[in-house]
Amino acid sequence: MPDVVIRPVTPEDDFDAQVDLGQRAFGIYSPAQKANWLYTARLRARQGMFLGAFAGQQAAGAAIFHDLRQWWAGRAVPCAGVSSVKVAPEYRGHGIGRRLMTGLLAAIAARGYPLAALYPATMPIYRSLGWELAGGRYHATIPARSLRDLLAPDAAVAAGPAEWPAVR
Ligand SMILES: CC(C)(COP(=O)(O)OP(=O)(O)OC[C@H]1O[C@@H](n2cnc3c(N)ncnc32)[C@H](O)[C@@H]1OP(=O)(O)O)[C@@H](O)C(=O)NCCC(=O)NCCS
Repeated sequence: MPDVVIRPVTPEDDFDAQVDLGQRAFGIYSPAQKANWLYTARLRARQGMFLGAFAGQQAAGAAIFHDLRQWWAGRAVPCAGVSSVKVAPEYRGHGIGRRLMTGLLAAIAARGYPLAALYPATMPIYRSLGWELAGGRYHATIPARSLRDLLAPDAAVAAGPAEWPAVR
C-alpha cells in the first residue's frame, strides 16, 4: 500500500479523476448529474470543504461537506451536510476511509459546526466516529386522485388553536 496523504482538494486537482472515483463508488452519472456534481464539487473545493485522499497524484478517496441548517426548537442551527464519501475499491479496507472522515470532522469542527449529518450506506465507520441514526428520509408517490378520498377534518382540530393542548 503506497503512502496516502489526506489533504483538501483544490481547484487545480484533476476533477476527471474525482468523477471517476465517484462513479466507481456510486454508479455512472448521467450527463446532467455529472455537470451538477462538478459544479458543486469545484465550488466546495474553492471553499475548502472538499477533502481528498491521495496516493501520490492518484485520487484514492474523497468526501465533501455542505453548509446546511437544521431546525431545533424553532432555531436554525448550522449543520455540516456530509456527502460524496468514497474510497477507491483498490484502496478500501486499509483505514483510509477512517482517516478521511476523521480529517473531515476536524475541518467541520474547526468551522464551528455543532452538527454534522449524512446518509450512511454502512454504519460501523460513522458510528465509531460519533454519528448515530437520528431519523430517516422518506419518499412517497401518491396519485392525485387519492386526494379526493381524504377523510373529513378532525372536529377537534377544526375547533382551532384555542382547543389544542399546550405543546412544549
Ligand atoms: C465506506 C467506505 C468509504 C469505507 O472506506 P475504507 O477505506 O474501506 O474504510 P476503512 O478501511 O477506514 O474502515 C473503517 C471502518 O469501517 C468498517 N467498514 C468499512 N467499510 C464497511 C462496509 N462496507 N460495511 C461494514 N463496515 C465497513 C471497517 O471494518 C472499519 O472498521 P474498524 O476500523 O473498526 O475495523 C468505502 O467502503 C467506500 O467507498 N464504499 C463505497 C461508497 C460508499 O458506500 N460510501 C459511503 C456513502 S455513506
